[in-house]
Amino acid sequence: MSEELTQIAANMVAPGKGLLAADESTGTLEKRFKKLGIECTEASRLAYREMLFTAPDLEKYISGVILFDETIRQRASDGTPIPELLARKGIIPGIKVDKGLVDLPFFPGERFTQGLDGLSARLDEYREMGARFTKWRAVIAIGEGIPTSQCLRANADALARYAGLCQVHGLVPIVEPEVLMDGSHDIKTCRWATEAALHEVFDALTRYRISFKEMILKPNMVVSGTDCSNQAPPDEVAEMTLACLRRTVPVAVPGIAFLSGGQSDVTATANLNAINVKAKTLKTPWTLTFSFSRALQAAPMSIWRGQAENKAAAQQALVRRARCNGAAALGQYDP
Ligand code: 13P
Repeated sequence: MSEELTQIAANMVAPGKGLLAADESTGTLEKRFKKLGIECTEASRLAYREMLFTAPDLEKYISGVILFDETIRQRASDGTPIPELLARKGIIPGIKVDKGLVDLPFFPGERFTQGLDGLSARLDEYREMGARFTKWRAVIAIGEGIPTSQCLRANADALARYAGLCQVHGLVPIVEPEVLMDGSHDIKTCRWATEAALHEVFDALTRYRISFKEMILKPNMVVSGTDCSNQAPPDEVAEMTLACLRRTVPVAVPGIAFLSGGQSDVTATANLNAINVKAKTLKTPWTLTFSFSRALQAAPMSIWRGQAENKAAAQQALVRRARCNGAAALGQYDP
């Protein structure tokens, strides 16, 4: 199994390619659809995702897609199961396996991720359906007195237990500790929170005997808080992000695929490019690429608006963002 998982992880972060996160829960997708006046039904969610996945040339820039439970069970309009539709294009199907967030008792403003109960059986089912990798997202908020070490540790331990189960069941885990952008904190505060979170995560992964070469890390970029008056430019984001990763992530991890976290699509691409330009000078050991949801989907979703006649234009917008991010993953993005 180990060699197969190592190969899958390497393919997920192939040069110039990244991941499309299309694993929004039904509630999250409904919120995004509502803003654009798109009706949210099982059929419209499928139509939207089929539009994304069938975009011509998507496979040139997208190595894998993260699906939601509903989507992995659906069939495209020609009857092809969604995971098979992706696999036929050479795109690796993946699946989000966590069950969302709950409040951490006695720690106001902090949450932890659920979903370990029954996970083994679900992993077997997903693998049978064609999934080859998984995702679990932990969320860390920045605020007055938070994150606490208890929150960081609870989330890191869950990530490690999830990662171990995935590796045993033949799936590559994406380990995602997301430090949120929400708040008026500056980039230095994000840097220390991210470093503390990653330190706990790799401590837990080590204690739980996880194989680093059979996983992908999905962190936030180190950025200024959304409401911070001083928004750090891409070269500072690159410097802070790489400083943080170099102090915490083992060389054996094959790839780091950043989330976009609410950055605009153009900003996320510019920051990813700056990270890769700087990484070359530092000779960092990992592939540094993208695993974006909002920064890939914002443009196509707003063009599509639930109308079949907008499909081709929406697909072009998606592939354009994917191409720009593919270039940024090589440090070759030219805006
Ligand atoms: P964003 O790129 O919108 O942050 O989403 C990535 C993701 O999968 C969050 O879990």
